[in-house]
Amino acid sequence: MSVWRVKPVSAFEADMKKSDLKRVLTKWGLTSLGIGAIIGGGIFTLTGIAAHNYAGPALALSFVIAGIGCLFASLCYAEFASVLPVEGSAYAYAYGTVGELFAWFIGWNLILEYMMGATTVAVAWSGYFCKLLHLCGIDVPIYLSNDLATATEKCLALGMEAPAFAFNLPAFIITWIVTMILVKGIKEAASTNNIIVVVKIAVVLFVIIVGAFYVNPDNWTPFIPEKQLVVNPDGTESFKFGFGGVLTAATIVFFAYIGFDAVSTQAGEAINPKKDVPFAIIASLVICTVLYILVSLVLTGMVKYDQLDLAAPVASAFSGIGINWAVFIITIAATAGLTSVMLVMMLGQTRVFLGMAKDGLLPFGMFGKLHQTFKTPYKSTLLIGLIISIVASLTPIDKISEMCSMGTLLAFAMVCVAVMILRKKKPELERPYRTPAVYLVGTLGVAFNIFLMAFVRKETWIAFLIWGAIGIAVYFLYSKKNSNLNKTGE
Ligand code: ALA
Repeated sequence: MSVWRVKPVSAFEADMKKSDLKRVLTKWGLTSLGIGAIIGGGIFTLTGIAAHNYAGPALALSFVIAGIGCLFASLCYAEFASVLPVEGSAYAYAYGTVGELFAWFIGWNLILEYMMGATTVAVAWSGYFCKLLHLCGIDVPIYLSNDLATATEKCLALGMEAPAFAFNLPAFIITWIVTMILVKGIKEAASTNNIIVVVKIAVVLFVIIVGAFYVNPDNWTPFIPEKQLVVNPDGTESFKFGFGGVLTAATIVFFAYIGFDAVSTQAGEAINPKKDVPFAIIASLVICTVLYILVSLVLTGMVKYDQLDLAAPVASAFSGIGINWAVFIITIAATAGLTSVMLVMMLGQTRVFLGMAKDGLLPFGMFGKLHQTFKTPYKSTLLIGLIISIVASLTPIDKISEMCSMGTLLAFAMVCVAVMILRKKKPELERPYRTPAVYLVGTLGVAFNIFLMAFVRKETWIAFLIWGAIGIAVYFLYSKKNSNLNKTGE
């Protein structure tokens, strides 16, 4: 049946040969893009909620659990990137193995990962930027720095009247700045990103090294706080802490790892994609995992977990021990660091669209045509900028981030399945990088990602199912007929 048609590897190779994108990215340039996409809102903001409410000092263990799961997926991504170094990432891998409808569905979920990921980070950026302005003595009004629901909550908590209107202006503005950088081109974007990545790693190392001197080992006991029953405002009951809490925290900090796969969307711009993309995927993930584990140990050692701040835990841990100048540096670096996450996420989104448009599954004029001078898919970049800027200005961060994690988990599970299918179906293909123990690693990757999906809230599941249904409808109404494989009769 035609929905299971598979794009031949030779067709991917032909696409790569006629690509107009400039090949400028080196091995470390790609790794830097990966780190640029990974370190962001997860470590700078979500660690607070995860330790304070769910894991306590065992936050480091949550990072280990989430990191191991991502490692399985990254090993599978790396093999695919070496066989099919094309810009479509997981979408392209599914198209080359399982079939068109599956590939479309993965592409549809990658929209959640990249577009909602960038949107989440735009909102987080706004929070840090406002904190930075506050440190400089400027306070942005609540209704101009939050969506309506969040602004109402904050005003009521402060005993103020709820606003009739609210718009997250900093989130809107940063989205358009990043959009303009991306329209101008990957080379400029890559060099901007490299500078930010250096700043970001420097500040993370600063937190680890300086913070280590202020660790009080007493703060690490008990390592896993005893399980507690919580009665929620709506009368339902849930638990915090205990080993279950460590797992819940793992699902929260999973967001911190999202991004290593964005490297695979840059294959079309890599100088030596077959070797360097797999390297960069694994290297960026491993580097970030080590940094995350150390940061979480230091943070929970510096401050008792129940004293950690929920909005800016890393910065506040330093104000807690009286090093106020460090708060300033960390806030600046976090603001810059979040910008680079947005850059790579939005870049990844345009490249997935480009891959789909080249295959005829999306309108080529809108998603595939490159700018004459800049050689970038400028129309889709502008469209993505428009959507992200509007959603980020009007929606609460938790709603967006959960949709992002959901789409990502499914895409990861799918890549793990697809890599095993390709080994069986086409064992003869040249694989510059081979996933070790592929059937074990692939199966564990699927199991882990589905397991985490089971922990996501019911409301998010409903939204996710609606999103999926719309995707299937678009496929049957547009993409199936317009697919290149349909036209060439393959
Ligand atoms: N991993 C990215 C972040 O934490 C998405 O911001």
